Amino acid sequence: MGTSFLADARGRTVRYLRLSVTDRCNLRCLYCRSDARAHDIPHDNILRYEELLRLVRLSVARGVEKVRLTGGEPFARRGCMAFLGMIRAEFPHIDLRVTTNGTLLRGEEATLARMGVNAVNLSLDTFDAARFARITGRDMLAEVLGVLEGLVTAGLRVKINAVAMRGVNEDDLPEFLRLARDMPVDVRFIEFMPMGSETCWSPDFFWPASDILRRANRLAALTPAERMREEGGPARMFSIAGGRGRFGVISPLSNHFCATCNRLRVTPDGRLRTCLYADREYGLRGLLRHPRLGDAAVARVMELACQDKPLGAELLRARRGNAVAAKGMSRIGG
Ligand code: 5AD
Ligand code: SF4
Repeated sequence: MGTSFLADARGRTVRYLRLSVTDRCNLRCLYCRSDARAHDIPHDNILRYEELLRLVRLSVARGVEKVRLTGGEPFARRGCMAFLGMIRAEFPHIDLRVTTNGTLLRGEEATLARMGVNAVNLSLDTFDAARFARITGRDMLAEVLGVLEGLVTAGLRVKINAVAMRGVNEDDLPEFLRLARDMPVDVRFIEFMPMGSETCWSPDFFWPASDILRRANRLAALTPAERMREEGGPARMFSIAGGRGRFGVISPLSNHFCATCNRLRVTPDGRLRTCLYADREYGLRGLLRHPRLGDAAVARVMELACQDKPLGAELLRARRGNAVAAKGMSRIGG
C-alpha cells in the first residue's frame, strides 16, 4: 500500500486523487459557468499529460488507490482517452474513473470499457430536450442519452449526476426514478452549490435533498442501500423495489463527510486543493517544471499541504450565505 500522504490527527488518509485535466467545456451549464471562454486558462499553464502522469505515479507510490479525471469536460481536451490508457497501462490495479458530460463520447463507450475504467459519472439534469438546451446551452440531450445507453451496454458502471434545481428540473424526478428502476445505474441528485460567482445560484433555485427524498418516496418504494465498502463518498443511496439501479442524493452543504474525507484535487493549472471549500491552493506546476527538483520535492509539498487539510464543514459554516468557494467548479474540478 505504500506510505501515505496523510494520516493526520483526525485519522484521515488520502487515497483518492481527482485531476481536472482542463477547465474548458463544450457546454455552458448554468450551475457551473455562464460565460466561460473569458476564463480559459492559457495553454502553457495547463499541466501536460506527462506532468499529470508524474502526479499519479508519485501519489500511487504514497497510498493513492483511486484516480478520477474531471474538468471542465475531460474529453474536450485532445488526447484524454489516450491519457486514460496511459494511466491504466502503468497502473492496472488502481480504481480509475472519469466524470463527463458524455457529449463527446459517442462511439467510444467500448474503448472505456476495454480500458477497465471502473465507473463513469455522467452529468444529466433532465430528460426534456428543450430544458436540456436551456440548462447546458446546447441541444445535445439525444447524444447524452445515446452515450448512456452505450456505456451501460458496454458493461460500464454508470453514475448519473443531476444537479437539483427548484423550478428547473423538479418535474424530471419521476423520469429519473424510472431510469433508476429500468437501468442498472446509480442516479444521484446533487444539491446545487454556490460555486464561484459565475453561476445562476440563488436561494430560489435551491432544492434541498430532504425534499427530493420526501417526494421520491411518494413515487417509489425506496430502502436505504447497503453502503458498499469503497463508497466513502457523500451520496445517500436507496434501492428501489423491483429496480435494477439505485436512486440517491448528495447534499454537499449538509454532509458529515469531512471527518472521513480521503481526497485531494488538482486544478487544470496544477494547483493542489486539499478541500473543495478551502480556497487555499498549493502550486505544483512550478515544482513539476523545475529542472532540478524531482518527484520527491513535489511529494513533500503535497504531504505538507495534507497536514493542513481542513474540515470543509467548518469553512462552510463560516461562509454562511456566500459562495462556498471563490472559483467556479470548472476551474477546480467537479
Ligand atoms: N452545484 C452542484 N453540483 C455541481 N456540478 C457542477 N457545478 C455544480 C454546482 N454548482 C456537478 C455536475 C457535474 C459535476 C462535475 O459537478 O453535476 O456532473
Ligand atoms: Fe461543462 Fe460539466 Fe460545467 Fe456543464 S457542469 S459546463 S458539462 S464542466
